[in-house]
Order: sequence, then C-alpha cells, then structure tokens
Amino acid sequence: MLYVDGNWVKTGEAVIQPEDRGYNFGDGIYEVIRVYAGVLYQWDEHIARLYRSAEGINLTLPWSKAELRAISEELLRRNALQTSDGIVYLQISRGVAPRQHDVPANPLKPVITAFARQKARPVQELQHGITAALVPDLRWLMCDIKSLNLLGAVLAKETAKKAGANDCILHRDGIVTECSAANLFAVKQGELYTHPATNLILHGITRQTIISLAAKNGIGVHEVAFDTAFVQSADELFLTGTVSEIMPIVKLDGVPVGNGEIGSLVKRLQALFEAEIFASATAT
Ligand code: PDD
Repeated sequence: MLYVDGNWVKTGEAVIQPEDRGYNFGDGIYEVIRVYAGVLYQWDEHIARLYRSAEGINLTLPWSKAELRAISEELLRRNALQTSDGIVYLQISRGVAPRQHDVPANPLKPVITAFARQKARPVQELQHGITAALVPDLRWLMCDIKSLNLLGAVLAKETAKKAGANDCILHRDGIVTECSAANLFAVKQGELYTHPATNLILHGITRQTIISLAAKNGIGVHEVAFDTAFVQSADELFLTGTVSEIMPIVKLDGVPVGNGEIGSLVKRLQALFEAEIFASATAT
C-alpha cells in the first residue's frame, strides 16, 4: 500500500497527475528513512532535513511532523513491516498546475507520495567493500537541498558503472565532493577527512553520525576540501548513507585503496555504527 495525495492505494493503482510539478520540473523534495526491526531510525533528523529542504525551495509544508510520522508508521503497518528492515520514502512536490516555469502566485496544494518497502542491510558489501570511479560532479549548486532533481547523480552513477565500478566519487574541478547517493570519507594516518557541509554536498545524517561517533571515540575528523590526488593516496575510503551505511571502497578506478583490504578504521566505525542501530531499535 502507498500513500498518495491523501489516499491509501495499492501499488499499481496510484494516480499521478501529468502536470504535477514534481513530475514536470523535479519541483519537490524527498527523504529516505531507514527502518531497522520496524523502527524508524533517526526520524527526527530526517524530518528536520525535510523541513529545511522545503524551506530551501520556498515550499510551506501543510503537514506537521507528527502527521508525517503517523503516515510513515501506518505505511509500515499496512505493509506488514513492523518487525522488518526496510525504508520509508517520503516525496513532496509543489503541487499540480498547468505546466509553466513560474511558481503560481497562489500556493498550490503540495502532493505527498509515500511508500515503504523491505530492504535488507547490504551485509555482503559491508564486509567486502565496493569499487568506485572518479566522475566529474555536474550536479547543480544546491546539493544541500534534498530535491527531486537527481539526474546529475543518476548519470554520474551510470558513468561509473560503465567504467566497471559500483559507484562514483564526484569531483568539481578536482575537488572531491561526495558520491551518487552517499557522502565520502577518506582516512589518512588514522584520521578522517570529509567535504565540509556546504551547498556542494547533501548534509548526510549518516555523515553526521560518523563525525559524532569519531569525536566520542577520540578519532580526529577534518571537514575540509581535498582533491582527487588525496583520495587516490588515501589509506582507506568509505561512503556513508542511510541505505549504504558505512561502506568501504576497496578499489578506485581499478587501483586498490591502501593495501586493498578493508581498513581497520572503517571496521571500527562500522562496529560503532552497528551498536547505535541496535541500541535505537531496542530502545523503542
Ligand atoms: N541518499 N549525499 C547524497 C547525494 C545523497 O543522496 C544521500 C542520501 C547522502 C547520504 O545522506 P544520509 O546519510 O542522510 O542518507 C549523501 C538517499 C539515501 C537516496 O537518495 O536514496
């Protein structure tokens, strides 16, 4: 069951208007929330970011945070996911209007589309790592807004896959930003490096969790810009995201990262992150 514009509908029976601005212009925002053992993980952080994204595109959300939580929990219930690992996807478009670029003077009724599905943790990849390719970052300059405009990310990932890699590491004129749907960390001499939380990256919730866990555990973190040569000579690389968690990158452009094995720091961070997940799933 999905929740579409105020109605509970079966998959395949949802009606999307051809002139929904989300559909025509990517004029909308979204969130992907992890569900562990039926519990919405880091709900407050995701929903706060959804409101920030809405503000970033001058969109006033007509739902309270509590209403959005009730919809998300109802999605889990209606899809029998109360004890499963999965995701909830919340998308809000500006609304439906005859297609023209101008944002209508009178606010439209935003259209919400939400679904939940089972999704296992990527255990194999977490243990063995994935491969990446450096790809130019051709996305827009408001990457801190989680907008529906994902074509830049989609095409960059496609370029990486055609080059035989699992994902891309994006760079703007040589400065490394993030990955297609995750943030990037490099490890040098036991310390972490990641792009600062500017308009050039999404301010990932998993990224922030790792920064906090590192701080609590005496691991140095540098939120600084670094270039492609830096990642090419990193001891370890990993990406962070709601779906991918703390994912080691073991090869970059066909060249082993560090000694080609999963690094010791990423393993430590994976363990700390897992402890957080289990703590949150059992606390609720
Ligand atoms: N993507 N950077 C980008 C470009 C992203 O799309 C995402 C998340 C992240 C990681 O953010 P977080 O840790 O808050 O999930 C970083 C989601 C999962 C997606 O689009 O499917």
